[in-house]
Amino acid sequence: MIHLADITKTYPSPSGPVEALRGVSLTVNRGEIFGIIGRSGAGKSTLLRCINMLERPTSGKVSVDGRELSSLPEQAVRQARKSIGMIFQHFNLLSSRSVYGNVALPLELAGKSRAEIRQAVEPLLELVGLTDQSNRYPSQLSGGQKQRVGIARALASQPQVLLCDEATSALDPETTKSILRLLRDINQKLKLTIVLITHEMHVIKEICERVAVMENGAIIEEGPVFEVFTNPRSAVTREFIRTVINHDLPEHFQDTVFSSTPVPGGSLLLRLSFLGRTAEEPVIAGLVRRYGIDVSILYGNIDHIQNLPFGTLIVELSGDAGRVESAMNALRDYKLGIEVIGYVDRNARAAG
Ligand SMILES: Nc1ncnc2c1ncn2[C@@H]1O[C@H](COP(=O)(O)OP(=O)(O)OP(=O)(O)O)[C@@H](O)[C@H]1O
Ligand SMILES: [Mg+2]
Repeated sequence: MIHLADITKTYPSPSGPVEALRGVSLTVNRGEIFGIIGRSGAGKSTLLRCINMLERPTSGKVSVDGRELSSLPEQAVRQARKSIGMIFQHFNLLSSRSVYGNVALPLELAGKSRAEIRQAVEPLLELVGLTDQSNRYPSQLSGGQKQRVGIARALASQPQVLLCDEATSALDPETTKSILRLLRDINQKLKLTIVLITHEMHVIKEICERVAVMENGAIIEEGPVFEVFTNPRSAVTREFIRTVINHDLPEHFQDTVFSSTPVPGGSLLLRLSFLGRTAEEPVIAGLVRRYGIDVSILYGNIDHIQNLPFGTLIVELSGDAGRVESAMNALRDYKLGIEVIGYVDRNARAAG
């Protein structure tokens, strides 16, 4: 649906050129909710604005729905942009217009008749749950309601794609949840492709299927949310994940120095993560039975990625070194995320 090929964007500035994007390539599939996360200044907004060509890339190709926007003249880009809706952190509503008037605006600009406009706006207000607020003005609305107006307005021109620039960053956690639910709802009902950017990992965890992590104008990591959560490759990603999933070791391990190779008479600490109903109990019971090793669960937690249960376990495997290795290899056959925390000398720990 969306293809970005080697996009660069350099802004001129008084203190010299700023390289906001340094060769970003990305594919977003039709109908998916794709998240882009990164710290402030990473280039997220610039990238999002390149998708609808509000920002022309310095180099690289942008294609949306089979059309290469980056090669079109401005007039044609403006036309194509109608199939790409956008919502913003601060809603960008017109304060002098009612809820109805804000949603109607793109249709008025497109020269639709009053009857056509009514026919389009009413179901949209219904969709976002604002039918009874239709005559109100933005100043009379809560943040969540304002964003609902923003969403209805973005949908007025029946876009194929919705771009969301920090759409929930100005909202409280409960309102954020309700807006994310609405986005998921319209993604499913309207088969809308959604690209959202955020600096909050819980937004990604809540509704995205795939995620890209940006840093310094580049994508440093990308994949299905579950995979990135269970097997983060970069420090930046790990930091983001830490904000939503407790990754700390139990207290009595915190000062422990782990070894990356087996320690005689020692034990092995693993962090296991699993999605869905991969029951952890049989897996662990099976290890004990098949390999004759001891397994203790040091920490366990169940969270959710989208609506699927997502569990984290920290386990300690001990016993004969060869058997512990075999057990760990067996674990790799399950659909689990496995992170080796390290080997530890049990006696030293007991003494310390
Ligand atoms: N119009 C502009 N002129 C000059 N520099 C710009 C312009 N817009 C963005 N930049 C710079 O480009 C870089 C990327 O900015 P961008 O707004 O894309 O980041 P972001 O990831 O969206 O950050 P935030 O989370 O703060 O919104 C930053 O260094 C920023 O200062
Ligand atoms: Mg931004």
